Amino acid sequence: MVEKVIMKSNIEKANQYIKDNKHKVKEQYRHLYHFMGEVGWINDPNGFSMYDGEYHLFFQYHPYSSEWGPMHWGHAKSKDLIKWTHLPVALAPVEEGPEGGAAFSGSALEHRGEHLLMYTENWNGVQVQNIAKSKDGIHYLKLSDKPVITSDMLPKYASKKDFRDPKIWIEDEVFYSLVSSRNDENNCGQLLLYSSNDFLEWSYERTLVKSDGTIGEMWECPDLFTLNNHEVLIVSPQYMKSKGEGYQNLHSSIYMLGNYDKNLESFDFKQYCEIDSGFDFYAPQTLLDDKNRRIMIAWMSMWERNMPTNDLGHKWAGSMTIPRVLTTKNGKLIQTPIDEIKKYRIELLEVTKTVSGMFDTDVHDDVCELDVSITNLSSRYFGLELMKSQDEKVVLMYDVENKLLSLDRSNTGYPICGNELENNSNIRKTAVDLMNDKLSLRMFLDKSSIEVFIQDGVKTMTSLFYPKSEDKGISLFAYEGEAMFDVKKWKLKR
Ligand code: FRU
Repeated sequence: MVEKVIMKSNIEKANQYIKDNKHKVKEQYRHLYHFMGEVGWINDPNGFSMYDGEYHLFFQYHPYSSEWGPMHWGHAKSKDLIKWTHLPVALAPVEEGPEGGAAFSGSALEHRGEHLLMYTENWNGVQVQNIAKSKDGIHYLKLSDKPVITSDMLPKYASKKDFRDPKIWIEDEVFYSLVSSRNDENNCGQLLLYSSNDFLEWSYERTLVKSDGTIGEMWECPDLFTLNNHEVLIVSPQYMKSKGEGYQNLHSSIYMLGNYDKNLESFDFKQYCEIDSGFDFYAPQTLLDDKNRRIMIAWMSMWERNMPTNDLGHKWAGSMTIPRVLTTKNGKLIQTPIDEIKKYRIELLEVTKTVSGMFDTDVHDDVCELDVSITNLSSRYFGLELMKSQDEKVVLMYDVENKLLSLDRSNTGYPICGNELENNSNIRKTAVDLMNDKLSLRMFLDKSSIEVFIQDGVKTMTSLFYPKSEDKGISLFAYEGEAMFDVKKWKLKR
């Protein structure tokens, strides 16, 4: 009981702080149509689910500063996944201090009119899983004073310290929870499956999948679901080694298509793939909505890099990607921005032009959607320069000979540096094939972010940047030959 009372007072304290400080955030780099916290730091999406006909998004939240700290669960809801209403903080640490039972990542589901949550409580050196529920979608109560999945329920060699981020679902009236774990013997990621008949009493089923040692270290934030007759497993492995152009960030998010059946011993997969080829995408979570769409949202940021909005004292850091609908095609995951975003389009501008060299359009914008189709006539390199001013630009360039699309944020204003020792570059590249000599790019700019959906979502590149200049020009280029551009640009209203 004591725990509940302390958590309640920590929730009230956080809500009061948010109310008193949210007007102090500096707007300069704030997005206009991406999800952000009202003040302070956010990371992973949590409990992404539908409840009572609305979308709910919880998130890792430290309202008191723009740096990571004792974790709360922030909370918001939406009818269209674009416009969100902030709700009171749902969960708070049990005690003061970073190790005092902070509320780490987890998930949610709707069951018989109740909104059920499972999340990790982080204690000094030990992580355990707790449950909470709500009947109104606003106030969440811990369902039990004790954690429901504890360190006594771990298989041999599973770390007590790295045991977190439960993903829950219900199948044939049985609840399941898939929890991230580190195998202490080989320092590899593995996922543990638990089950329960009543959501209160849980038992260990099996280790569903293990890394073979080549897929990073701890696998954070698992998600498992069925999509077009495939079973899809998503995890975010820490410290994955880069491979060619891929996995260049310190931490990665990957998907595996494989076979899962609750009666099978393990999840088998033949291959895995990086979900996003940009700089800022981590810890995605999905939901299945009432239109039967599998929708993914991710933290649009990356660990172990400076956060310019924190360095500059803007009192906020972190945001989420545009929600993306997932489908599969030829054994690959396809990502499409949710259709609802189209309702926000205004003021269409079009440019059709055959370009040789650099062409500065008279279109300027930094809160917009760009739908660009480029037919290569004869050039060796072609692409776009965005957010362009005298000294700054974000460059997207296709290298025809090497079939590589690059995103270059090295000249975009305020510097971003990470701990990536192998590759601290501000350029990311990914292999892309032209289709009938065409490259199609659907892009979303939102003040300090870009999301690029390549060839109808076969690949994506997501990145942050922090321009110093007020200019936001758009130029088209083709070198060593010509390319034909067909550009549509919509402003996206708030
Ligand atoms: C992933 C993560 C999770 C953890 C949370 C803490 O980004 O490290 O594994 O629960 O963030 O904020």
